[in-house]
Amino acid sequence: MKVSIYGSGYVGLVTGVCLAEVGNEVVCMDVDKAKIDLLNNGGVPIYEPGLDALVKENMKAGRLSFTTDIQQAVDHGVFQFIAVGTPPDEDGAADLQYVLAVAENIANHMSDYRVVINKSTVPVGTADKVKARIKEVLAKRSSQSDFDVVSNPEFLKEGAAIDDFMKPDRIVIGTDNPRVTELMRALYAPFNRNHDRVVAMDIRSAELTKYAANAMLATKISFMNELSNLAEILGADIEKVRLGIGSDSRIGYSFIYPGCGYGGSCFPKDVKALERTASEVGYEAQLLQAVEAVNERQKQVLFNKIERYFNHDLAGKTIALWGLAFKPNTDDMREAPSRTLLEALIAAGAQVRAYDPEAMEEAKRIYPDNQGLTLCETPEAALEQADALAVVTEWSIFRSPNFELIKSSLKQAVIFDGRNLYNPDHLASIGIDYYGIGTGVENTQ
Ligand SMILES: NC(=O)c1ccc[n+]([C@@H]2O[C@H](COP(=O)([O-])OP(=O)(O)OC[C@H]3O[C@@H](n4cnc5c(N)ncnc54)[C@H](O)[C@@H]3O)[C@@H](O)[C@H]2O)c1
Repeated sequence: MKVSIYGSGYVGLVTGVCLAEVGNEVVCMDVDKAKIDLLNNGGVPIYEPGLDALVKENMKAGRLSFTTDIQQAVDHGVFQFIAVGTPPDEDGAADLQYVLAVAENIANHMSDYRVVINKSTVPVGTADKVKARIKEVLAKRSSQSDFDVVSNPEFLKEGAAIDDFMKPDRIVIGTDNPRVTELMRALYAPFNRNHDRVVAMDIRSAELTKYAANAMLATKISFMNELSNLAEILGADIEKVRLGIGSDSRIGYSFIYPGCGYGGSCFPKDVKALERTASEVGYEAQLLQAVEAVNERQKQVLFNKIERYFNHDLAGKTIALWGLAFKPNTDDMREAPSRTLLEALIAAGAQVRAYDPEAMEEAKRIYPDNQGLTLCETPEAALEQADALAVVTEWSIFRSPNFELIKSSLKQAVIFDGRNLYNPDHLASIGIDYYGIGTGVENTQ
């Protein structure tokens, strides 16, 4: 089948590559010429396990190509996927300008039937706006071309995106036209062999499903973070509590890890956007507001611990920071807790020596000439001349480090662990001060 995809970011690129991998002919279009040039020259603009090889193989096989040419993309596929960004605008609502720009581009260039598929995360009612925009432009062109609009939200996780796309938990298809459901089923058939994963529904429910999933996951995280703070005050250990509740099959072990807050390109913006959607229709989404507020507070927790440890005087101190990406196996630093921490440390007069296995280029791009930040080549180099170590991303390389080396490198043997990777008893036994999240060892001075 012929597929065109607008937006070659995390979602568009992974969708394009996976659809090409099963035999479709895919054209990916992006307005970012530098990105398209890089892809056409064999480069991949993001880090995602397995993506590099799949891009190269499918380009070589002639099933995948990249362009900035709208006409070429509109002419190519019956399936036209919109996978552009929907960042928050000033008041937190999803900014639909890129989605609607694609809709307009498609309408301006189409001369045949097209299925316009919204894969971007968009508020309820967006498909109606896309439909209206296309109709308006077609009317201006006096074009009789027919089209359908489908909501097909994406649930992939960065860091496991290829696997998630290839073996999805569900394929949500929102449309009011049963014929389009069948077209979409055919396109997704290679990913739907083991059992039927298609959940077909009306468009509005599909749009809301994506927000519901992300808001639920963010709620679980904020709930655990709230309890971790309480556990600290009460002298309980949140890790024991986690195991105690995770064993309940109604609760489960996923997404109940306490930590230094959630980040990334999805949870923060999607919780905010859903809250905005609610307030626009006159409903106060109290739970969503709390989820967001708890997360904002949680992103400060590590800084507060470090500041207290150094008696509220961080001037001249150097903190080693392990982890910049918002989670492991990605280079994405959007809304990452590392940013809140390093910015607060630098504002308080400290120097930061940071290391991340994949996000160093991204950090250079975000902080091109930040005086207080030194990006180090290795985790060990980040420890040199540092007063303390803070861990914010649970990359596997940080999970079992050489504690003796950490102890001898740091001026003060102290670790602030934003992901509860280490065993407090073990660290105590080898003489390292340890502050995790909600482990009942609070420094309150
Ligand atoms: N990143 C994730 O893990 C994830 C998961 C599920 C859903 N989503 C949703 O998918 C959407 C895309 O997210 P992303 O992380 O891939 O974004 P991204 O920022 O990585 O990529 C978006 C791309 O769209 C391009 N673009 C902008 N305007 C364009 C236009 N008019 N025509 C063609 N290309 C254009 C940009 O240049 C950019 O390359 C968002 O709505 C997001 O919420 C993201």
